[in-house]
Order: sequence, then C-alpha cells, then structure tokens
Amino acid sequence: MIPRETINQIMETARIEDVVSEFVTLKKRGSNLIGVCPFHKEKTPSFNVNPARNIFKCFGCGKAGDSVRFIMEHEHYSFQEALRYLAKKYGIKIEEREQTPEELMAQNERERMFNINSFAQNYFSDIMMTSDEGQSVGLAYFHERGFRDAIINKFQLGYCPNSGSAFTDYATKNGYDKDLLIKVGLTGSYENRLYDRYQGRVIFPIHNLTGKVIGFGGRILTSEKTKAKYVNSPESEIYNKSQTLYGIFFAKNEISRLDNCILVEGYADVLSMHQAGIENVVASSGTSLTTEQIRMISRYTKNVTILYDGDAAGIHAALRGTNMILEEGMNVRIVVLPPEDDPDSFVQNNPIEVVTKYLADNAKDFIGFKTNLLLKDAKNDPIKRATVIKDIVETISVIPDPIYRATYIKECSRTLEMPEQTLTNEVNKILRAKYRKQLGLDPKQDSQLSYQEYQTYQPQQQIEPKDTTPIGFFQEQELVKLLLTHGNETIEIEGKDENDNDVVYNTPIASLIIDDLKNDGLLFRDETHKKIFDAYDRGLDTGILPTAQDFTSSEDQDVAVLAANLLSTQYKLDDWQRHRIVVKTEDDVLKKTVLTSILRFKDMVIEDRRAEITKELQSTTDLDDQLILLQKKKKLDDIRTRINRDLGIVITK
Ligand code: CTP
Ligand code: MN
Repeated sequence: MIPRETINQIMETARIEDVVSEFVTLKKRGSNLIGVCPFHKEKTPSFNVNPARNIFKCFGCGKAGDSVRFIMEHEHYSFQEALRYLAKKYGIKIEEREQTPEELMAQNERERMFNINSFAQNYFSDIMMTSDEGQSVGLAYFHERGFRDAIINKFQLGYCPNSGSAFTDYATKNGYDKDLLIKVGLTGSYENRLYDRYQGRVIFPIHNLTGKVIGFGGRILTSEKTKAKYVNSPESEIYNKSQTLYGIFFAKNEISRLDNCILVEGYADVLSMHQAGIENVVASSGTSLTTEQIRMISRYTKNVTILYDGDAAGIHAALRGTNMILEEGMNVRIVVLPPEDDPDSFVQNNPIEVVTKYLADNAKDFIGFKTNLLLKDAKNDPIKRATVIKDIVETISVIPDPIYRATYIKECSRTLEMPEQTLTNEVNKILRAKYRKQLGLDPKQDSQLSYQEYQTYQPQQQIEPKDTTPIGFFQEQELVKLLLTHGNETIEIEGKDENDNDVVYNTPIASLIIDDLKNDGLLFRDETHKKIFDAYDRGLDTGILPTAQDFTSSEDQDVAVLAANLLSTQYKLDDWQRHRIVVKTEDDVLKKTVLTSILRFKDMVIEDRRAEITKELQSTTDLDDQLILLQKKKKLDDIRTRINRDLGIVITK
C-alpha cells in the first residue's frame, strides 16, 4: 500500500505536460498544449493539456483527468500501478505502509516466486543463445519453425538443457530455495532426488499484465507419444491458469488501439501472428475460455475475433465457451481457417496482405456462423433441426442487450426459416425462467410475469437508467463548477453581529453555496454532484476546504472525470455588461454569479415540485385533496415569485 503522503507527493510532482508528452506530441496553443488524442481516432487535434490546472481533456471523446488518470487510461494500469509508474519516472521513493506479519509473509513469498521465475527465464534464454546444446537444439528448433531472433527475444523464449538437474543445481547454488523451486514447478522431486521438470524442452515464459513471468510452458522436441507434449507450471499464488491469457502483456496496447482482440489457441499461434505484425493476439492456451479471461479482454475491447484451426476439432473448440463471451456483452466474430491450417501455419505460409484480407473477408458474426454450421449438420432431419433451434435460441438468450437480441432473432428467423414470433417466444421463455430463478421463484411456473418484465430483463446486468436528464441537473452542475473553481475564495458579505451592528464577514464561496442550500433543505440529486457537495460540507466543518486538485486526482473515477471536465471548460461569469450593470470588483461579479446560480437551482427544484403537484391534481377527484394540493401549489408559486424577484434584484442591482 502506498501511503497518502506519498500519493500526494507523486501527484504534486507529476507535471501533466511532461507525462503526456511521452505518448503524445504536443504543440503550444495559448496557455495550453494540444495534440492528437491517443484515446480515439481523429485527424484534427482536440486533445488538450492544461499545465496550469495540471489536467488533460479531450474535446473529441471527452476523456479527462490528471496525470494518474492519463497513465491509467493509456497503459490500462490500476490506480496503484499508475502511481508506481509515476513514482519511478520522477524518482520518488515509495515507503510502503507497514504490513502485518501475515501480509509480509505472503508478500515475501510471492516476491520470491517472481524472483525465481525471472532467474529461470534468464537462465533458459542464456542457455539457448550461448551454449552449444542450446543453440543446436533449442534455437535450431525455433528457427526451424520460422521464428526469428527478434520475436524469440521479445517473448523471452528459452531452452532447458537435457541433463537431469542442470538448472536446479545452478539455481540452488545461487541460493534459491528448493521448496520454492518445487512450488513454482521448475523442479520436481522423485525419491528424494531433484530434477528439472522442463529438461530437454523449449520454454515459453508466460507473462502477466505487467510483464512479470508467472509461469512457463515447456514443449517437447520429439514426437515421443509416451511423454506429454507440454509441461506447464502448476497453479500457485502467482499463477492462475484461468486468469491468464498468453501474450496479453505484449498485445494489450494493440488490442485497445484496434478495439479488437484476436483469440487463438496456442503459444505458436501467438508468436507467428505477432511476428507477422498482427499484435492484438492472445491465446487461451488450449483450455476453453473462462469468465476471468473474458473480463481481462473486456478491459481493453468489447470485440473478440476467434481464430481457430479449420479442422473439425478447431471449429468445435470455437463453439465452446462462446456463450460465455456473449454473456459478458461482448461482440463475437469468428474466422475459420482453411481446413489444413492453424493460425501459426497460415501466417507463416502466406504473405501478410493475404492474411489480413482473409481475416477481413472471413470474419463472420458468431451466431450466424453457428446457425449455418449446425443446420448443415442437421440437414433435413426434423428432430435434429428442432435441437438446433433450441441451441440457437439458448445462445441468443444470453446476450444482455435486448436490442441485439431482437436483431439476432430477426436474422435467425431467416436462416432457420422460422417465424420471428416463434423465436421471440422461445427466447422469452428462457429469459422468464432465468428471471424467476433470480427472484428465487420456481423457474418452471412462468405464467405470472408480465410481458414488459421479461422483455426488458437483462440477464446478469444492471438495467441501465433511462437517458433522461433529471430536472435541475444543469443548475446543480453549475453550482458544482462554482465550488470547484471558486469554492475556496472568500468574499465579503455584509451582515449583523449579535448586538445588531453592521459587520462584514469574510465568507468562503463554498459556505455561501452549501449553507444556503442546507438551510432550505435542498440537496443535489446526482450522485457525483453529491459527493463533491459532501466534500465541501465536510471541509467547512473541519475548516480545511478541499482543493480542485483533490477532486481531479480522486480515486473515485466519476468524481475525477467530472472535476477535470468542469475545470477545463472555462467558467463564464455572467455577462453583466449586457444587463447594464456596473461591475465594481471581481468580488462583485463572483457574488452575483453565486447568488443567481443558487436562485436558479432553487427555481428548478420548485418547478419540479410544482409539476408533481399538477400531476397529482389531475389524478384526484376528491375535492378536499384538490384543495390541499392547490394550497401547496400557491405556496410554491409565492416562493417562485420571491425567487424571481430576488433574481431580478441581483441582476439589476
Ligand atoms: N497445451 C498444453 N498442454 C498440452 C497440449 C496443449 O498446455 N499437453 C496448450 C498449449 O498452450 C498449446 C495449446 O494448448 O500452445 C494448443 O495446443 P496444440 O495445438 O497441441 O499446441 P501448439 O502450441 O499449437 O503446438 P505445435 O504447433 O507446436 O504442435
Ligand atoms: Mn500448432
């Protein structure tokens, strides 16, 4: 854990223009810097860096934030990882928070396991590149398979000597613990003798998202049927197969840039694709995909293209696990290679233009692909056809987005030659069952649910709030912006002391806004606005008001983005000249702006309540009720008149 003081130090030291310019070419424009946005495709630069406020904002795609946020977005780092990156860049030493003895033990062990793996990787690479056996066996094998040194070095491939325990001996001589060597699976023990588990094999190190070696795959070089083709690392604290994708460290930036992830099966497929210059490629390493792997991909893109061998087994593998990808709301396409090829041989044997064209021409929408494939198998057998329809309907029902579901139903009704309504009914039946199960009801008895309920039901996902901006939202935001830009400034307010003498109070703008609203029992409705409101409220209590920087560098993504957004659009103080008002001082303008903003906000809240009452009036026929409602309405109207009068006074004073 990084202590708060260090976090502050990092944030204060990191200059946004400095951090960004490592990735984006910036040009000066006025007091700002401008460049081509790294987060979306654009020709004319709309990516803005504001050194004074130490934030960035893209007016094209809306991404905004401080240095930490920039690194998080650009490198797909977590908050902690981004801080570590910046600390390293600026030479800030991170004094970790003291850990509990248990944490320390676990941390130590993980650290030591990483160290052992790193040591082993270096050894395997060195052996392959420099020893006679390494060159003539390991390196020769890779060369034979068409891998050039650049890709061998990049993926840190290696070779383990075919001599019993050469590696283990070397490691223990260098002080590495034998139990830990066994634990990470580099060493095996048989009748009290230690041996190298990867002996005589070429080595594929497996990297995590940040590039650390977490495990190895070792491929046999002969075709002995008695030995496993691959020896792999066992699961451990640092290696969890179901949470790992081979190649993700080298592919993540390209996946994000191309907004697409190509999925293949094996190590060799990843290497060949990368070598050919197609770098948005990762492998599931022979197992069917897990939800964790899919979530890892979805950090970078919602689009997955599955690329599998053209043989029957490959196609089958492609079908497996796909429902899970759809379930996560991802768009899945599939490319089937010519029957004799796997991705590895296909890229090795064809020029890159042929490969990219083939991928573009043959990427098929998954559901359409599956439908056609199954139909071909079923031919004209009616029972088989019915099974196919069931299968497809099941697949469509896992898609979270109702609009996509409807689109697929339409398309499949054509290919399956089934009425659309029949398919819709079948899909709805499944959705109803899932919905009932989620509610803890018997999934089989589904007659009680309304059509609406299951039509809009989205499995496993929150139903998105409708896109209607609540009344008063912009007025709220106006006040939040004032808090951020001027909340800490004080202005003079005239008032009376306890003896009724005229006095002048130095009041922070924040108190003007917060206290006024609280007095009237008015609160912001938007969650993010509320968080900022609360922070100032607390600040007024403690006497230490938050700064704009506290918000732009907040760990709360919503707060940080909103603050950066509001701070990078210049606040336009009201055009008082237009109202023919003589503005005496800056203070005067500010005071007027604050007061009008508060009044406008109140006006909107009243308007909202008034609308509610009007609606109630229309729905009741009871005379007494109507009378009460009318009185309420009258009261609100009075307040409104007063607000408008005040507004008029403020504006024309
Ligand atoms: N795999 C494994 N253990 C095995 C077989 C396969 O872990 N015994 C994993 C490996 O990640 C492998 C992937 O499944 O890369 C695909 O298997 P396969 O096609 O047999 O291996 P390739 O790596 O394609 O091997 P090659 O092309 O060298 O024959
Ligand atoms: Mn292969």
